Amino acid sequence: MATPIILDCDPGTDDAFALLLALASPELEVLAVTVAGGNVGLECTLPNALALVALAEANVPVYAGADRPLLGAFVNETRVHGVDGLGGIGLPAGGAAASGVAADAIRAILRSAPRRVTLVGIAPATNLALALMTEPSLADRAEQIVLMTGAWGEGNATPAAEFNALNDPEALAVLLACGRPVVLVTLNLTAQALCTTERLAVLRRAGTSQCLARLCDIQATVPFGPRFGGTGAALHDPCAVAWLLRPDLFTTRACTVSVDLGPGPCRGRTVIDRWNRWGLPHNATVLETLHGDAFFALLGERLTRLP
Ligand code: RIB
Ligand code: CA
Repeated sequence: MATPIILDCDPGTDDAFALLLALASPELEVLAVTVAGGNVGLECTLPNALALVALAEANVPVYAGADRPLLGAFVNETRVHGVDGLGGIGLPAGGAAASGVAADAIRAILRSAPRRVTLVGIAPATNLALALMTEPSLADRAEQIVLMTGAWGEGNATPAAEFNALNDPEALAVLLACGRPVVLVTLNLTAQALCTTERLAVLRRAGTSQCLARLCDIQATVPFGPRFGGTGAALHDPCAVAWLLRPDLFTTRACTVSVDLGPGPCRGRTVIDRWNRWGLPHNATVLETLHGDAFFALLGERLTRLP
C-alpha cells in the first residue's frame, strides 16, 4: 500500500524536484500539497506549486498556507531561487488552489485519513506547526514528520541557522516537541546530494520527460555558491522524499535536538546532541549519510516517468 503523505513546500527550485519526485513515485500517495512563503513570497510559491502539479498532470489539491512565520516575517532567498522562485523559467500556469487554508486542510486530512499520514516539510514549518498547535491530539495521526531543516554545524541563511529553521524556529520547536517521530534532513546530509554540472547533464539525459527537462532548466539557474567551492549546489528538498522511497541509501542517528529561539545571532540554530551529552530523551532521527550517486540515479529513474 502506498504511504499517504502531505507535502508542505515553498517552491523553490529544490522544492520543485521534491514535489515532482513525490508525484512520480507510486510508493507515495500525495494527499495534499500545502504551500508557505519562504524562498519567495506566497504570491509566487503558491502559483509555482500549482504549475508544478499541473506540469506533472497530477490530481492533487494544493492549499495556500502561511505567508509569515508564527512570529515576524519570512526572509526570502531570491539569490538562489530567482525572483519568481523557479529561476525565471516560467512554467505554464496551473489550476486554482483548493479552498481553505493549509493548516485546516492538514488537520482535516489527519482527522479523517484511514491510516496515519506522513508529514513532509520542506519549507519553514509554519503550516505544520499551526495544524498541530490548534489540535494537538492530531499529532497521533502523523506516522512520522520528515523535515528538511537544520544543520549539525554552520547554517546557510546565517552562520548559525539553516534557512527553514531560521524562518520559523518556533514552528520547528513545536514539531520537535509534538511526540511523534521526527526525521531531520539537515544541510550536512543534503551536502551529499551535490548537484554538479556533470550530474545535472546526466540527469537531463535520463529521459524525454518534459517535467524532467523543465526541472533541469530550473536547476541550471541555481548559482554555485562558495560553500562547495563553486562546484555545485546542494539539492536539499528531494532528499526528504528520497528518505521515504529508499531509506537504504541513508544512515541515521537518534539524537536530541534543540532549536535556538533567542533574538540573537544564533536564532534558528539547531543544536544536535550527537553524543548524548545532555542525557535527554531523543526527539529526532537525524540522517547522517547519503549515497549521492544512487540518489541522483533515483531522481533520473523516477522523474523520467512523468509527462
Ligand atoms: O536550506 C534549504 C531549505 O531552505 C530548502 O527547503 C530550500 O528550498 C529552502 O526552503
Ligand atoms: Ca524548500
